[in-house]
Amino acid sequence: MKTLRILVIHGPNLNLLGTREPGHYGHTTLADINQSLINLGDSLGLEVTTYQSNHEGELVDRIHQAASESIDGIVINPAAYTHTSIALRDAMLATNIPFIEVHLSNIHRREDFRHRSMLADAATGIVAGFGGTSYLLALRGLQDHLYQITEQNRGE
Ligand code: DQA
Repeated sequence: MKTLRILVIHGPNLNLLGTREPGHYGHTTLADINQSLINLGDSLGLEVTTYQSNHEGELVDRIHQAASESIDGIVINPAAYTHTSIALRDAMLATNIPFIEVHLSNIHRREDFRHRSMLADAATGIVAGFGGTSYLLALRGLQDHLYQITEQNRGE
């Protein structure tokens, strides 16, 4: 079976993890999260690439690029753009790459404006509330999903 290629995208302010609002986001840095994703990817036989930007248009461009790179699946924490960005939603729909939406915090325990996601109904799944572990759970879930759809395609 070919090695699955997974892109992990982090949205705005997630570069500040470790010092940013530790009550919500903990003390783990983005570098720690990325390293643990790459380590888990290695043990699962996945090729994991990570990307962070504070700019909506750059995130859109990176999603478009993923389609031309034959990325099989995306794990995305759109951060504050979760709640506002039709552009990110449209980019995910346009590329049609299966994706998991991730949040460190449980957005449903927080302010009302965080309860709405512009992407969630287009996602394969959502993981929220487990800190950095949310990303690792998402990676496992995405791998499982990609295997299932590969099996389905083979059976058709
Ligand atoms: C977040 C939740 C968002 O509401 C917030 O704007 C973030 C991070 C999370 O990972 O919990 O920046 O996506």
